[in-house]
Amino acid sequence: MSDVFYITTPIYYVSGVPHLGSAYTTIACDTLARYHRLRGEEVVFATGTDEHGNKSVLEAAKAGVPTAEYVDQMVAAYQETWERLHIRYDRFIRTSEAEHTRVVQEVFRRLLESGDIYLGEYEGWYCVPCETYLLEADIIAGNCPDCGREVNRVSEPAYFLRTSKVADRLLHYIEDHEHFIMPDGACKEVLGFIKQGLQDACISRARTDWDIPVPGDDTQSIYVWFDALINYLTVAGFAVDEAKFARVWPPAAQLMGKDILPRFHATIWPAMLMGLGVDLPEMIYAHGWWLADTGDKMSKSRGNFVLPYETAVELAEQSGARTAVAVDALRYFLLREVPFGLDGAFSFRALVGRFNADLANDLGNLLNRSLPLVERYLDGVVPTPGPGAGNLADAVDRTREAVEQALALADFRGALEAVWELLGEGNKFLHEREPWTLYKDGKQVELEAVLYDALDCVRIAAILIAPFMPVVAEEICQQLGLDPAAALRWDLVAAGALPPGTKIERDNPIFPRVDMERLEQKLQNREQEAAAPAVEAPMVTLDQFKAMELRVGKVLEAERVPGADKLLQLRVDLGEAEPRPIVAGIAQEFNPRELLDRLVIVIANLEPATIRGVESRGMLLAAGEEKALALLTVDADVPVGTKIR
Ligand code: MSP
Repeated sequence: MSDVFYITTPIYYVSGVPHLGSAYTTIACDTLARYHRLRGEEVVFATGTDEHGNKSVLEAAKAGVPTAEYVDQMVAAYQETWERLHIRYDRFIRTSEAEHTRVVQEVFRRLLESGDIYLGEYEGWYCVPCETYLLEADIIAGNCPDCGREVNRVSEPAYFLRTSKVADRLLHYIEDHEHFIMPDGACKEVLGFIKQGLQDACISRARTDWDIPVPGDDTQSIYVWFDALINYLTVAGFAVDEAKFARVWPPAAQLMGKDILPRFHATIWPAMLMGLGVDLPEMIYAHGWWLADTGDKMSKSRGNFVLPYETAVELAEQSGARTAVAVDALRYFLLREVPFGLDGAFSFRALVGRFNADLANDLGNLLNRSLPLVERYLDGVVPTPGPGAGNLADAVDRTREAVEQALALADFRGALEAVWELLGEGNKFLHEREPWTLYKDGKQVELEAVLYDALDCVRIAAILIAPFMPVVAEEICQQLGLDPAAALRWDLVAAGALPPGTKIERDNPIFPRVDMERLEQKLQNREQEAAAPAVEAPMVTLDQFKAMELRVGKVLEAERVPGADKLLQLRVDLGEAEPRPIVAGIAQEFNPRELLDRLVIVIANLEPATIRGVESRGMLLAAGEEKALALLTVDADVPVGTKIR
């Protein structure tokens, strides 16, 4: 055990934008980090980006910008999304940092010296998009088992990590440490994976310009996964700041999707740590996948992933809640809807359903019913709890223990269920004690006890939900007239800590209900529009077609139009005295270099136009509606200017 609660997300590839899947892991980590901070512990919550590897280089080339620039843009997108989702990390690590490079090379050196790394020959299959070496047995009909794309055969000298050596030790370690690999199902899978036999892992490849060089060998670069795993050591100060490392290491919890557990985090990673002679993490937790509402895996190539912030904005629009509240509602939904280790299909309807039932009704009701009663009967001032108060004290203690037990094992859903049981008891209590009757009957002492307990229950609920919904927790405190910074502390999860005399500050309901019927109508209209067949184009006559002059041209020059991210300006040779200037809206799909010397089809008699200050005389033809999916070209090398009939 270290002094610090050190928690990590995987570091995300910069080849894709942050989506609901990456947000899920990050929100889960943020929730645990906030929980431990509430308890007064020192927390290091690290997330970041995995920037090396071929994929970054390829994506940057596609975008037509230098790799470093592309990567910076993507990092900014991650950081912006995390901020919008109320993620409060302590460290954002980028594998392109100089400090990380130093640590990676140092780890490599130490493991080479200890014999845990050796130079061998790699023969096998590699999937470029996934940055993964594959075993023959993994390949499905020549394609990668994960992304389904074609794999490449490679044979080259390479360094290997002696993963095979640790198999027995690792098996025993896992069997002796019940919570090392979580949840149970994932742990069983890992045991099965190790028992099949571990092969040494290839951790280098032929030298590239972009990756971290193997120290002392000009011909090799470090394989991106080996580099990426070391980020967890870099954050803790390994080999650079030994005092810090001694305090921070090992990680208390490492959360990730189940895809990167068995091979990477449950074998290669522990093997590296064993080789270095440092402790293994206390808990590695592999959660399930969020699937699209069709049940398919969300992926960039299918274009079916959900953007988390945009989803929250939509919820805010439908409900009238503040966007920050809707973000919290999404955080709540993700951690409540599905047990952390299992898969779930995301649907906006289910999100709204929980927003109405759990947040507007259960949580919102307790607040929105108690505050007006206190205003009406007690001048808006928290009463002094008399001997009849403390009715919910046992329920509060039970809930606190249940939440603590659940969160110790990353059981977010269990924790929230316990809190919602308490809210249920609070609502029931208020309902059964009928403060309005007590008031009518002049039972002032009892009335004060009941309203004190109800408000106190709301206060406690605010602390309990604060790790999940930080903005909502603050807002509840404010409406109770409390300073959130002082009120949101775990040791105040105990009945009776609401200071009497506090003036409440009731405001609008935090969670306005969504009208389900209206929403359903809107969603159905939208779905119908999306499914509607495209309007058929009117017929044209042959003469009309012939009026169009289509010619083959060759692209001689291509560059971006400054300040217009969709436009390229081209010079196209149509066999005329001068090449034609043509502006094409394809800059997001094609990079200027890949167009050079291509034979393209041009509408040569299109009226000239000036687009963003650039002259354009003609138009390129491409397949695709909004986006250009492919350029029209010819299948033989015909002279420029050839007419299309
Ligand atoms: N760069 C590696 C990780 C290196 S860690 C040393 C990587 N990156 S990734 O960008 O592909 O992110 C993978 C992680 O994102 C998953 O492990 C998971 O945490 C999260 N998810 C991505 N898609 C997901 C879903 N559809 N559902 C849930 N989580 C998913 O792998």
